[in-house]
Amino acid sequence: MSEDQYLIEMKGIVKRFPGVLALDHVNFQLKAGEIHMLLGENGAGKSTLIKVLSGAHQLDEGEIFIEGKKVQFNSPQDPLDLGLRFIYQEVNLVPELDIARNMFLGIEPMKRGLIDTKKLYSETEKYLMKFHIDLKPRAIVGDLSVTQQKLVEIARALVTDAKVLVLDEPTDVLEDRSRQDLFESIQDLKNHNNVGFIYISHRYQEVHDLGDRVTILRDGKNAGVYNICDITLDEMIEKMIGQSVEKQYPHLNKPQDEEVLRLENIRQGKKLNGVTLSVKRGEIVSVTGLMGAGKTELARAVCGIDPVDSGKVFIEGKEIDFSSPIKSIEGGMAYLSEDRKGLGLILPHSIMDNYGLPNSPRLSTYGLVNKKQIDKEICEYMEALKVKAPSKHTKAGQLSGGNQQKAVIAKWLGTQSKVLLFDEPTRGIDIIGRSGVYSLMNELLDQGIGILMLTSDYTEALEMGHKVVVLYHGQIKKVFERGEATEEDILRAAIGTH
Ligand SMILES: Nc1ncnc2c1ncn2[C@@H]1O[C@H](COP(=O)(O)OP(=O)(O)OP(=O)(O)O)[C@@H](O)[C@H]1O
Ligand SMILES: [Mg+2]
Repeated sequence: MSEDQYLIEMKGIVKRFPGVLALDHVNFQLKAGEIHMLLGENGAGKSTLIKVLSGAHQLDEGEIFIEGKKVQFNSPQDPLDLGLRFIYQEVNLVPELDIARNMFLGIEPMKRGLIDTKKLYSETEKYLMKFHIDLKPRAIVGDLSVTQQKLVEIARALVTDAKVLVLDEPTDVLEDRSRQDLFESIQDLKNHNNVGFIYISHRYQEVHDLGDRVTILRDGKNAGVYNICDITLDEMIEKMIGQSVEKQYPHLNKPQDEEVLRLENIRQGKKLNGVTLSVKRGEIVSVTGLMGAGKTELARAVCGIDPVDSGKVFIEGKEIDFSSPIKSIEGGMAYLSEDRKGLGLILPHSIMDNYGLPNSPRLSTYGLVNKKQIDKEICEYMEALKVKAPSKHTKAGQLSGGNQQKAVIAKWLGTQSKVLLFDEPTRGIDIIGRSGVYSLMNELLDQGIGILMLTSDYTEALEMGHKVVVLYHGQIKKVFERGEATEEDILRAAIGTH
């Protein structure tokens, strides 16, 4: 294929950040009508490559060609004019505006020089239906959950005639059905409109099932380009991390008999319909279910973020006050939120300062913070979780998506609470980082901590749970003991047919 037949060609791309060589002479090519996967560990440079392409980051060296023509983007509108659409890892919507306004921002349908609002809302309705998004076009985006916002973003990218669609971990926050909707739309646009896709994902099966080709990055360098049919999953992972992977899930010991957390009849409007469950010392209880089944709602309620109508929470047999986050923490609970950007980290602060926030009280005597101890602990966690950053002083906002998630985990692991609530703990984390998270969880169990893990990943729910609780419409539909269920059993319970 000659050069000018590539939709996109990036040559010798170099991008430096202070102390980091994020991209080191990277080459990348995209053909029309192909789904091109971009693969690499957390911090390998995937999002940076995409941001260089969109003009969000200026490149230090290298050239970009679009359909054979050399380009230099100076404003965010430039790539849009050439038919490139981006869905970034972080949600990029205007929270104050409604769904329709967001979906057609900058491309509003016009009538006689004015925005054709009737069309704006009817078109939006059409797209929401196509994606089975059960929301009103006039709903304000800021009131939606992360998942719903992501769906709106994806729908937005598909609304317009694009030549190239770039998706940075789009399915990260999606549940099965929405994922299938997205894959169908992608195949459709590929086959009928010859759209080219750049697709970043840490879900290796998805990479394998959906992709035509894959470019692998390792430490900011090219580590190979392959036709997906020529490479196995294991080979792909090996190229990505430079070694083969061992067993990902640790062996879980039996929990103790003593109950450490009990939720009694938690009710909240239509979202939670009387949830009762308990976690023992050294036990992980996985809670799973479809989007909207009540996973996150349960965590937020129990952690005092959203008020409940009724219900009790006991820690080590003692009823606690969970009417605010501070009270829940004082009662012995820590909550790792699914929304790392909103609730997890203060982005302009360093990794260490973020760690210090919930941990300083524990490490202070007479109001003096033991900085040495904080220093020691964060270094240990960064090592255990394989956080890729120049140092503990790196600002959280400068970390790659997966490494931000690791920093949030470190912060809450440090609090040494008796009960940990983990909401989607490994979302966006690469394969090595995941093993790190799992083995740390396992260590915590041995210290007698109880973990309630909310996850939409059924494999994770099964492999890392002593029990799997399946929620359906805010109620417990089914509880499986370890070894009792398959992924299919869980899915059946989650859609309510069990
Ligand atoms: N704005 C920034 N300032 C400083 N360093 C940055 C910035 N953005 C990214 N980096 C660094 O560049 C490197 C590549 O980051 P990038 O976000 O491209 O990784 P990634 O492959 O997308 O990882 P992930 O899978 O975790 O999303 C990382 O070391 C990251 O810390
Ligand atoms: Mg990224």
